[in-house]
Amino acid sequence: MGTFSDRALSIQPTGVRKMFDLAGDDVISFGLGEPDFQPPPVAIEAFHQAMLDGRNKYTTTAGLPELRQKIAESWDSYQSGMDESNICITMSGTNALLNLFLTLVNPGDNVLLPEPYFPLYGPDVTIAGGTARYYSCLFEDEFIPHVAHLESLVDENTVAILYNFPSNPTGGTLNESQRDQLLEFAKRHNLWIISDEVYDRIVFNAPHVSFMGTDYDRVLVVNSFSKTFAMTGWRMGYIASTNREAMQQIIKMQYYITACSNDAMQYAILTAMNEASDYPNILAEEFRQRCDLIVKRLNAMPGVECHKPKGAIYVFPKVNVPNMTSQEVAMELLRDGVLCSPGSAFGPSGEGHLRFAYTISQEDISKGMDIVAKTLLRLQSNE
Ligand SMILES: Cc1ncc(COP(=O)(O)O)c(C=O)c1O
Repeated sequence: MGTFSDRALSIQPTGVRKMFDLAGDDVISFGLGEPDFQPPPVAIEAFHQAMLDGRNKYTTTAGLPELRQKIAESWDSYQSGMDESNICITMSGTNALLNLFLTLVNPGDNVLLPEPYFPLYGPDVTIAGGTARYYSCLFEDEFIPHVAHLESLVDENTVAILYNFPSNPTGGTLNESQRDQLLEFAKRHNLWIISDEVYDRIVFNAPHVSFMGTDYDRVLVVNSFSKTFAMTGWRMGYIASTNREAMQQIIKMQYYITACSNDAMQYAILTAMNEASDYPNILAEEFRQRCDLIVKRLNAMPGVECHKPKGAIYVFPKVNVPNMTSQEVAMELLRDGVLCSPGSAFGPSGEGHLRFAYTISQEDISKGMDIVAKTLLRLQSNE
């Protein structure tokens, strides 16, 4: 009698959601990594119109050619000359990631992943039959890995390395020289680079540094409209690469995953890119202000150290409460009315940290930080 696959049995539910299940409605929530905005109205109208116009059918697997062309052109300042053949529309960044692991990884292969991590990466590698090897991105190093550490992990079965900048959960970003060192490492070992750049449009005070546009042809960029246009529930994303052979394999794989993406939504996203192109900058400016506020408040609390992120929607401060785990601290905060994620939910080196997603208003951030300050003071004086 059949039971369940080893692959299903070997993956666990994500720990990040556990806190949510315990939270009441009246908490101030720094939990969820989703912008607290709605998509641009023109996109919603275009979605509606596209459905009225009969765009309710299967589409080509790689996606609407005009949309793919538009996305390719949006990368012009990084990589000129891309066209629709360099883009595959996916049903979310999540879908794009799974596609890439299924396309690249054989049983026995290993993949280098960041830690602390976005919790999908490891289970995705397992589902694809590979082994995850984690490289550390530590607070002391502004969450940037050391190449020497990467060298100690790589072997002849390593097929790919995943980079995620701006990072969830750390908010870490790269400068060009750091990017080049990570690029050289991958080149030296002939690894695929899966670059998860879903926060590329939410950057503060400096342009996004991408792995796209470098001279390496084994770069596969994962992107999503979830954060860019505040449409997490729409589940739309894409893979971009200059590597034509890889794109053929990826598009072939995509057929067997979802056949194609949502028909009408692709028209809506095209409209958003054409008519609301400034929308991501408006979001980024609001997140920049919130980031300034929350970092200032956290750094004013005894026992808390917080880097100032240059992108994404998270802070990942070190929070020192003697004899308590980050899970226990997060539970105490929840009891007092603030939901955040324990750092340990993102891997062992997240212990001693909390993740706050600043996806609430500045007013609520201030109220939440008042509670955090009081709770930490209470816990620290309980020693
Ligand atoms: C780093 C990172 N990659 C990928 C995703 C997936 O985004 P989506 O599936 O909504 O496109 C997320 C979502 O939180 C993320 O934080």
